[in-house]
Amino acid sequence: MWPPRFSSFGVRALTAVCAFASLANAFYLPGVAPRDYTEDAQVDLNVNVLTSDETLLPFDYYYEKFHHVRPKHEENKRESLGSILFGDRLHNSAFELRMLKNVTDCKVLGGDNFVTTVNEEDSKFIAERIKEQYQQNWFVDGLPAAQLMETYQTEEKFYSIGFAMGQYDAKKANPQPYLNNHYDIHIKYHETINSKQKLYRVVGVVIWPYSIPAEAQKAKSCGPDTPGEPGFPITAGVNNIMYTYNVYWDKSDVSWGTRWDHYLYTQDPQIHWFSIINSIVIVLMLSGMIGMILLRALHKDLARYNTFGDEDGSQEDFGWKLVHADVFRPPTHRMLLSVLLGNGAQLFCMTAITLVFAVLGFLSPSSRGSLTTVALIFYVCFASVAGYTSARIYKMLQGEFWRRNVLTTATLIPGVIFAIFAFLNFFLIGAHSSAAVPFSTMLALVALWFLVSLPACMFGAYFGFKAPAVANPVKTNQIPRQIPPQPMYLNKWIASLIGGILPFGAIFIELWLIMNSIWGGRVYYVFGFLSLVFTILVITCSEVAVLMSYFHLCSEDYYWAWRSFLTAGASGFYVFLYSIIYYTRTLALDNFASTVLYFGWSLVMSILFSILTGTVGFFATLVFVRKIFSSIKVD
Ligand SMILES: *[C@@H]1O[C@H](CO)[C@@H](O)[C@H](O)[C@H]1NC(C)=O
Repeated sequence: MWPPRFSSFGVRALTAVCAFASLANAFYLPGVAPRDYTEDAQVDLNVNVLTSDETLLPFDYYYEKFHHVRPKHEENKRESLGSILFGDRLHNSAFELRMLKNVTDCKVLGGDNFVTTVNEEDSKFIAERIKEQYQQNWFVDGLPAAQLMETYQTEEKFYSIGFAMGQYDAKKANPQPYLNNHYDIHIKYHETINSKQKLYRVVGVVIWPYSIPAEAQKAKSCGPDTPGEPGFPITAGVNNIMYTYNVYWDKSDVSWGTRWDHYLYTQDPQIHWFSIINSIVIVLMLSGMIGMILLRALHKDLARYNTFGDEDGSQEDFGWKLVHADVFRPPTHRMLLSVLLGNGAQLFCMTAITLVFAVLGFLSPSSRGSLTTVALIFYVCFASVAGYTSARIYKMLQGEFWRRNVLTTATLIPGVIFAIFAFLNFFLIGAHSSAAVPFSTMLALVALWFLVSLPACMFGAYFGFKAPAVANPVKTNQIPRQIPPQPMYLNKWIASLIGGILPFGAIFIELWLIMNSIWGGRVYYVFGFLSLVFTILVITCSEVAVLMSYFHLCSEDYYWAWRSFLTAGASGFYVFLYSIIYYTRTLALDNFASTVLYFGWSLVMSILFSILTGTVGFFATLVFVRKIFSSIKVD
């Protein structure tokens, strides 16, 4: 069983977690070095969960209701924490593959004429899953088994990962679910010559699944010549199922280094360029605005402020200079603000470093879940950044309850995320989905949190509080200044909603692609684009927050701290709105558990996104405000 296996992994992950030397062990990277097979060598075929775009509820391959044929010696493949969280459950299988040995006589899975008898109830279960378009996900030598697809426009061939477990055509007069009980396994190999012998590498796996009558299987005529009509319906009563397979080894020119290219084929690579151009236009527009309004206005302001004082005593102040004695007045809820900023800094570092790793190509697509694992490890380690940032900001805002500040920083946001996660897990357990994270993994996560993340946070906070408080460039008065009535569009919420739309606008096409890959089970592998978009996001968030704060300061409203956070952070609100649109337009989830799962994860994503962007907005504004107020003369 794999939970104990995992707990041993968990212990290792814990001990290794912050030590970069052992990072490579904490999540091993299969598929980074090629594996050579000699002729007739055994090639393993591993099976992963069955998935469906229509439900988001994966099922274990060996979930008892499927009655899939089990191998004689069952073993569960070791997996990284990220894979487990992402729902992967890899097992070995009863398929016997030998390098270069074609099998063309309908080999029966599980040995001589092995037939599985599926009772009435489980037949119904299988029929339901076929109707929900469930797909098999197999792996050979770390490569996913795919179906060969053609694009509509160019008729270019590409691999679509996974293949259908059955066939169901709802448009037919009397639709019936058919089970794919025969597989033609086509494996592409590449020949390499070593000093003595010929060696072979797996460079592609394509499966042609068929639904054929049991008689054809028995008569050993289940090759590709079988007529197109499906022939093995799942009937309402008891079903006797025999699984058969043929294996074909095809020589290929594709070299091992490029074997993923077919899989990573994006439907339309131009869409990424389109997304980048869209983002760049928004950035240029914003930067133009900043340049025009801000710099010119600021220069004028500064010139005036600094000359008026010299001429005579009767200096008449106006605009943002008026609030110099209040602009650094600590905002309300400074505890919450500093906690959010600490967590935002943590997320920022995590995202940036993970992207660097991904762009440099450390995260091979064949090491499944490595992205999640790496992100999680960085997240835990960067709790120190959270502690430090939160402490420094809190001290700057003259907060006094430093103990509470450290504890809240370490527990509030991770706690909210963990609570949502645990809640969603109950739904998965209820639906008997294999994506439900086992108890041992939960324990490992809690252990990571309290044994690594919490101490790291305290460690950071210690240095944060020890550092001298950030000095403000201008003094703050005892008595707060009255804020004159503000125009409607500068209302806190309206201004934030207007501001947030720009960062969102800069990224929404890439967001759409990411959502497609998360919910559509596609491989997302354009981290170069992603980091470009991330950079653009950071720039837009900063610009929008600074611009809005400038408007506010000009109309003598000096509460910029929360506002800058909200202005940029509002983009997370749009991300959530967008996920609702995506749900109604693109996804066809018809059951309740899937819907809850989808919105649960969307909520988590949007919250994290808000905190991240809000933090960027705040710090950009902080730098801006300090800069402009330190360049004016105040008496
Ligand atoms: C195995 O099958 C493939 C595909 O049909 C064929 O090209 C190849 O020649 C076969 N190999 C042998 C040894 O028969």
